[in-house]
Amino acid sequence: MDTRPEGCPVPTVGGSGHNGGMTDSPAPLADPHLVFDPAAADGARDVVILGSTGSIGTQAIDLVLRNPDRFRVTGLSAAGGRVELLAEQAHRLRVRTVAVAREDAVPALREALTTRYGAGEPLPEILAGPDAATHLAATDCHTVLNGITGSIGLAPTLAALAAGRTLALANKESLIVGGPLVRALAKPGQIIPVDSEHAALFQALAAGTRSDVRKLVVTASGGPFRGRTKAQLAEVTVEDALAHPTWAMGPVITINSATLVNKGLEVIEAHLLYDIPFDRIEVVVHPQSYVHSMVEFTDGSTLAQATPPDMRGPIAIGLGWPERVPDAAPAFDWSKASTWEFFPLDTEAFPAVGLARHVGQLGGTAPAVFNAANEECVAAFLSGGLPFNGILETVTRVVGEHGTPRTGTSLTVADVLEAESWARTRARELTDQTKTQQAAEARA
Ligand SMILES: NC(=O)c1ccc[n+]([C@@H]2O[C@H](COP(=O)([O-])OP(=O)(O)OC[C@H]3O[C@@H](n4cnc5c(N)ncnc54)[C@H](OP(=O)(O)O)[C@@H]3O)[C@@H](O)[C@H]2O)c1
Repeated sequence: MDTRPEGCPVPTVGGSGHNGGMTDSPAPLADPHLVFDPAAADGARDVVILGSTGSIGTQAIDLVLRNPDRFRVTGLSAAGGRVELLAEQAHRLRVRTVAVAREDAVPALREALTTRYGAGEPLPEILAGPDAATHLAATDCHTVLNGITGSIGLAPTLAALAAGRTLALANKESLIVGGPLVRALAKPGQIIPVDSEHAALFQALAAGTRSDVRKLVVTASGGPFRGRTKAQLAEVTVEDALAHPTWAMGPVITINSATLVNKGLEVIEAHLLYDIPFDRIEVVVHPQSYVHSMVEFTDGSTLAQATPPDMRGPIAIGLGWPERVPDAAPAFDWSKASTWEFFPLDTEAFPAVGLARHVGQLGGTAPAVFNAANEECVAAFLSGGLPFNGILETVTRVVGEHGTPRTGTSLTVADVLEAESWARTRARELTDQTKTQQAAEARA
């Protein structure tokens, strides 16, 4: 089964770095015209799922369980916070290896596995420690789905690419913080985006050549606070911010959707994946989240990819490309009336996209600083230590203090980690100051 439009050149790239299809130069990281096939298996594809207990991971497992002829899960990884669920997944999927980042989770995991596996049935191998997901990402398989949250996903991303696996990438942070590192390792077509907007762009881009593309239009639901002014945002609570109108996701990405930092990260992600300049990537607010993004071509045509919001669609693109997985997610019911709206972005109430463009253009370590400072601020907001508007105010300050990152030298993992660590420390200092100030004001 092949869903590519007729007439599109479709070279298979098996790790040689050849690029064809939509590119002039340089090669974009993600290209729907290319098939990177590390081990052109006849039967089911072997898949490793990183972050299996999370929102992306559990939806991926649902898809796999409904498609045993297409996918076979060989390894699962998680932090170690939900060992019962992890053991249940391992048993259900009969995986070879289970990895947990927290070594202290191993006894409980072993016990949970022993309870589920019958006597004489061998338990899966257990990998444990901060590098467990990275080791698992390099094991023998066709596709690694990176559904870990946060920049901690960078090392597994690099390991999967270096090992020559197809990378189904939900963990956008690894691309944001390690863009040049990912670029240096990835073969054309080796990354299939799983973020819904980038999976939408990927599908729309299949309709033309690279030189036909005028701009990318990334849609944003606008989050739970669409239409509010900056002054109104000052009072919102954690509970308000976690109530996303259209998507059910993990807490970090949900808060990032409320601040629109997520959209900012996605603009950088689109730039890195498709090698389109920032001034040709637009953001439009579309509250229904039906259209997941669009590509405008030079002839004035705009191609939109649309489905009801359900991440199993993009996950199926990530795991199955270039094939489509039948019934991966529900389609629209066109017998019912519906309204699809589009609005310009309020850049004053939501400065995150502008700041993201700025750090994306600076390049180097600037996106890593932006992301790390934001992760710290989100944690502070979730624990009641920072007001909602304080997230962007603090991130802006940390980015400003970081200044202009070094250019002209190639970025190393050590550079990224150092910049991240500095940004986290500085963001924590600033959020602690805010906390102290708030406490003093409350006492006065
Ligand atoms: N959810 C969505 O709809 C959606 C859509 C687009 C993109 N994304 C992106 O997909 C990624 C995952 O998001 P999510 O919403 O699925 O997050 P989530 O629900 O919070 O799940 C995160 C997963 O990562 C695991 N994890 C955390 N630290 C780890 C580590 N050090 N090593 C291995 N595993 C670790 C967690 O394990 P424990 O359960 O043990 O903590 C959990 O399985 C993020 O980058 C997000 O931006 C998500």
